[in-house]
Amino acid sequence: MGKDVIIACDFSSAEKTFEFLDKFEGKKPFVKIGMELFYAEGPSIVREIKARGHKIFLDLKLHDIPNTVKKAMSVLSGLDVDMTNLHAAGTCKMMEAAIEGLTRPDGTRPLLIAVTQLTSTDQEAMENDLLIKEPLPEVVMHYALNAKKAGLDGVVCSPLESKKVHDSCGADFVTVTPGVRFADGDKGDQKRVMTPADAKAIGSDYIVVGRPITAAEDPVAAYERCVAEFVD
Ligand code: C5P
Repeated sequence: MGKDVIIACDFSSAEKTFEFLDKFEGKKPFVKIGMELFYAEGPSIVREIKARGHKIFLDLKLHDIPNTVKKAMSVLSGLDVDMTNLHAAGTCKMMEAAIEGLTRPDGTRPLLIAVTQLTSTDQEAMENDLLIKEPLPEVVMHYALNAKKAGLDGVVCSPLESKKVHDSCGADFVTVTPGVRFADGDKGDQKRVMTPADAKAIGSDYIVVGRPITAAEDPVAAYERCVAEFVD
């Protein structure tokens, strides 16, 4: 699995996104488009960024009945994204339907990654709101194994969980990890963070980096620093 740095383009408009991407001139970083940008601009933002030559992780975290997710995934696959995701909480059946929908007539498909428990959900919320009484790390690993069984390619997880996911689900099972910060950088609202070099050492396959690049004085230099630490 090719290691790469994915820039979280958490911008509110196409204009702001292109203003940011224009700074990269000849370079074509892998970018993540999330709900904010997608809901603001619609599928055209995906087509436009793709036409510029970038790989795209479309982070929409689908969760619905299997038939609806299958049909929605078929639409996303037609947008020619490289990676997309869903909630493992939607069940194995929903994940299997997603794979079916995502697979193109020629047999190819984008990578499909599962969200296990969101990092905003802690043990207390899981027990009180969701009535799940097991320890959170066990729930995360159970969801990861379900995703693997359903035929998905990997999970979104904290870099701290990458090794455990690889140990349980196999070295080929992809780990996509946000919560990355430079050693001398601002943590922002991320609580559990790791440097790109540490994420590499622990075996993350992709790191998703937002503000350390998008809010940097020199975003291109910050991106190159991430690549140098994580990929090279
Ligand atoms: O700016 P920052 O580097 O914190 O951005 C991280 C990106 O990864 C954001 O788009 C955020 O929504 C996403 N993410 C995360 N933690 C998760 C899942 C996704 O930070 N558990």
